[in-house]
Amino acid sequence: MRNIQSFESDSPEDTESIAAEFAKKLKPYDFIALNGCLGAGKTKFTSGIIRLLCENDDVTALSPTYSIMNKYSCGGGVINHFDFYRLKSVYDLETCGFFESLEGKNLTIAEWADAVKIDYKKYIAGNYYLVNIKIDPDEKNKEKRYIAIEKIL
Ligand SMILES: Nc1ncnc2c1ncn2[C@@H]1O[C@H](COP(=O)(O)OP(=O)(O)O)[C@@H](O)[C@H]1O
Ligand SMILES: [Mg+2]
Repeated sequence: MRNIQSFESDSPEDTESIAAEFAKKLKPYDFIALNGCLGAGKTKFTSGIIRLLCENDDVTALSPTYSIMNKYSCGGGVINHFDFYRLKSVYDLETCGFFESLEGKNLTIAEWADAVKIDYKKYIAGNYYLVNIKIDPDEKNKEKRYIAIEKIL
């Protein structure tokens, strides 16, 4: 049986709260794959995780669009936040520190994880969570998001 939790978000703040609640169970070595279209809220969701784990409401996750990775150090732990949207090749994936991050004692978060056709399961040392965020184009409330969190490993 698949282990999926579904949430409805009505605002960016809601998405951050859902992410923060989810983050309470995260441990070093865990991997979070974030999928969903541009503007779905993957970076917002990441902000929610970082705010909880860093115990700092002022920290905001920035899109690591140009660097591929942003590193957040907080409370003795490290969070590596990747964005594969602009990843051009497997070479980029190998050189951006992603595999080292999966093996290391830190949390790894990757936006656009499904843009890379690899079997993440092979490389993950901790738990593997797949987060999908959907926008319903017919929805009157333009801030409505459907968030599904699945525990894969
Ligand atoms: N319910 C919601 N959850 C998350 N973001 C929302 C929501 N409603 C509106 N937004 C807006 O959508 C945008 C999401 O941006 P971002 O998190 O950068 O998306 P992504 O990283 O998926 O491209 C932000 O401008 C945010 O304010
Ligand atoms: Mg983003």
